Amino acid sequence: MKKNNKKFYITTPIYYVNDKPHIGHAYTTIAADILARYHRMIGDKTFFLTGTDEHGAKIEEKAKELGMAPKQFVDEITAKFQLAWDELNISNDRFIRTTEEEHRKAVRETLEYMYDKGDIYKGEYRGLYCQKCEQYKNEKDLVDGKCPDHQTTPEKMSEECYIFRMSKYEDELLKRIKSDEFKILPIERKNEIVSFYKNEKLRDVSFSRKNVKWGIPLPWDKSHTTYVWADAFLNYLTGLGWQGPKNKLPEMWPADVHLMSKDILRVHATIWPAMLLSLDIPLPKSLFIHGFFLVDGQKMSKSLGNVIAPEDLIKKYGVDATRYLLMSATTFGHDGDIGWKKFDEKYNADLANGLGNLVARILTLVEKSGIESLSYKEAIEGSSEEILKQLKGKINNTWVVFNDAMENLKIHQAVETTWSLISFIDGYLDKEKPWELITKLIENEEKELQDELEIILYNLIESLRQISWLIWPFMPETAESILKQLGILKIEQKKTLIEAQKWPKKWMGMIKKGRSLFPRI
Ligand code: MSP
Repeated sequence: MKKNNKKFYITTPIYYVNDKPHIGHAYTTIAADILARYHRMIGDKTFFLTGTDEHGAKIEEKAKELGMAPKQFVDEITAKFQLAWDELNISNDRFIRTTEEEHRKAVRETLEYMYDKGDIYKGEYRGLYCQKCEQYKNEKDLVDGKCPDHQTTPEKMSEECYIFRMSKYEDELLKRIKSDEFKILPIERKNEIVSFYKNEKLRDVSFSRKNVKWGIPLPWDKSHTTYVWADAFLNYLTGLGWQGPKNKLPEMWPADVHLMSKDILRVHATIWPAMLLSLDIPLPKSLFIHGFFLVDGQKMSKSLGNVIAPEDLIKKYGVDATRYLLMSATTFGHDGDIGWKKFDEKYNADLANGLGNLVARILTLVEKSGIESLSYKEAIEGSSEEILKQLKGKINNTWVVFNDAMENLKIHQAVETTWSLISFIDGYLDKEKPWELITKLIENEEKELQDELEIILYNLIESLRQISWLIWPFMPETAESILKQLGILKIEQKKTLIEAQKWPKKWMGMIKKGRSLFPRI
């Protein structure tokens, strides 16, 4: 496919490997995958990075609990993440692990650079620490003395450590956030961060731990290991092959979108950009914060026994339906409630009775008609002409809404507009009743009837081709299976999105109906 000269670099958080992946992790990763696939489709030079965050106190403790060496433990869990992303057809260009030697080396060089510059100094840090978040907390963040995300009391820490002079960058960061030079989306999240800066001020932050052994030792004082977030953030650069502050910046930098949920917004809007300012590296263009999933109204947690793993969904619905169900469950950017009953209903309504049924209906008709090749004919005067105009208008309009939604990360809106087209085509089919024409033609071979049928079938097949393009980033296997049934997969794979939007003059493929795409549950 032809490339334009735009680039698109998207990241997910690198996930902690204290446990296997659940659908919260899958949600962010699928969303990033959809955006990356879309940007490749429009010809942008695209890089999609995900990976695992493997050091720190939380993981050290979990490995100890299981009587395993930390490295053996992280290898095992990381393999589960990689397997899950393979199963979900995630198209990441690179999977980074923070235990990779090249990453560890770049982290050491970065901290040394900041230390030499005077941005890291020795001191004593006093504060509250939530190990589950691996984050320092302010009193104000707590609810009844507990971390609201984990319902645990943070430990009081007071230890000798090396501290990052983050306060130095406060004014500059606030300025860049306010001006959108460093964009935080959606707007409510930006407002939240701006008021945090105004009300609480940026405090210097501890960048090393003395009693955590599972980490990257500081090069100038090996009795300390690097604070896990300082290590983790740098993945966004090392994942592109960056080797440290004395080396060239990768051409894909800065990131266009760091995607994540609200639990890690504040650190991404403070520590990470402050580190980049200290290193004299351009800030990412945007952070996009999506909502949190609840399962039947409750937070997913082991103790409640409601954790859903991606493979549970795949087993029941298949890969593409899992991707679809997760992405369409809530408005992207807002919290949302999910549950098995809702998934079943949505699967049957949108996929089995919606898309799957439409494809089957159209291809059955084509097979019944016995017509083997179709070409575009101007509609015959009268009603079909008007209907065709409406159909073309609807498809054009769908693309306008769809492209705008994808550019602005309104993933749910891209889904909605696609499904509105699907029901429009269903309606077109019901209005035109081509099956009646087929019966009439069996009785009476009139040229005019034959032409009318061909036009209707052409329009229906063409609509399916356009729908395949719309769902391609969301459900790649399904899109490809439809295009294969239409006999045009190879031709379509060579097109850019702009080329694909044009109606071809002639139908090139041999149509062959396949198995049902989404059997009813
Ligand atoms: N390791 C850090 C990130 C470092 S990035 C430099 C971390 N890891 S995590 O495993 O806890 O992942 C948090 C992220 O997982 C969230 O920001 C979100 O992207 C995703 N989600 C985890 N649970 C989720 C839900 N219940 N709902 C939606 N997203 C969820 O933080």
